[in-house]
Amino acid sequence: MQIKINNKKYKTENEETIFGVCARNKIKIPGLCGMKDFHEGVCRICVVECGGRLMTSCNTEIREGMEIITESENISRARRINLELLWADHAGKCATCKKNQLCELQKLAEEYKIENFHFVPRKGEMTSREELDLVRDNWSRVVTENENPCVSRNSEFCVECRRCVNICPEKKFGFNYRAGDVVVGTPYEKVLDCGFCGECVRVCPTAALTDQNDFFKIIKDLDDLRKFSIAILDWEISEKIFDQIKNITAEKDLKKILFDLGFEKIINLEEKDKDREDEIIKNIKTDYAQKEKINPKNIKTFFISSKIHKKAEKNEHLDYILSEREAARLVRDKEKMIEGKIKI
Ligand code: FES
Repeated sequence: MQIKINNKKYKTENEETIFGVCARNKIKIPGLCGMKDFHEGVCRICVVECGGRLMTSCNTEIREGMEIITESENISRARRINLELLWADHAGKCATCKKNQLCELQKLAEEYKIENFHFVPRKGEMTSREELDLVRDNWSRVVTENENPCVSRNSEFCVECRRCVNICPEKKFGFNYRAGDVVVGTPYEKVLDCGFCGECVRVCPTAALTDQNDFFKIIKDLDDLRKFSIAILDWEISEKIFDQIKNITAEKDLKKILFDLGFEKIINLEEKDKDREDEIIKNIKTDYAQKEKINPKNIKTFFISSKIHKKAEKNEHLDYILSEREAARLVRDKEKMIEGKIKI
């Protein structure tokens, strides 16, 4: 099939969506719920114009001869209104959010300059009794869960995009309650119990699902001059970290950042080490204790890896296991601490 996007001709394949063709041809369309293989059409941020009508691009299949426009005043207005609706629930939460500066919704809100909150009542528009009832009602549906070892859940930040529902290979997420009270969660809100592949955390656009870790403890250990901190980078993790941190694309920049964070030693595991990973990790503390002539108790090991399920395994040779997202968060928090914006 042949179609036009922004007045340029493109060839398409059967069953492709507008979003898919655009992604393939590097034409940027924003979106919070659509992913490569899932097209939900719930956030409605991905609207484009076709034949003078607005339609969601992630779940609209290509038809012969379509003429699509991906950017116009009309499209921006529609995206802005849809973002404002989502943002109405989020306003004021960023300052204390784990994903501040790493959140997809926040990035879009900045890009589309969401400053006017048409859907948030202004001072004087509600009585204090109504305000209190609203806050109580909002909180009555918030579910937080930190009892599982790997994934921290907080429905306060959920935008109901359904990415976690779609991506979970074990189908652990679904919808609880009905209509306006709908909350994404586990059946009967039980503690999440799965293989902890981490895919749900990877695709969550906000801080509804994040990695489980005590960040202040990590930062304190890194800053403690009596401790010798070793970062063990899993193979292929550098590329994943580059995706998370702006302006870093080279191994040497990553190393510099890790040293700036307080790591004394960086060990890169290679693909050939895959099967010997546990054995290598097991010997690190004793090897460095001998080499640096320090007490092994003062050595802290940080395994930076996407295998977040390892957090559940309690490996005595690893003090912390951090995902690429957490490594990015460390960089962000360190920068903020240097600027004096957060204190520990
Ligand atoms: S990305 Fe298409 S509606 Fe959300």
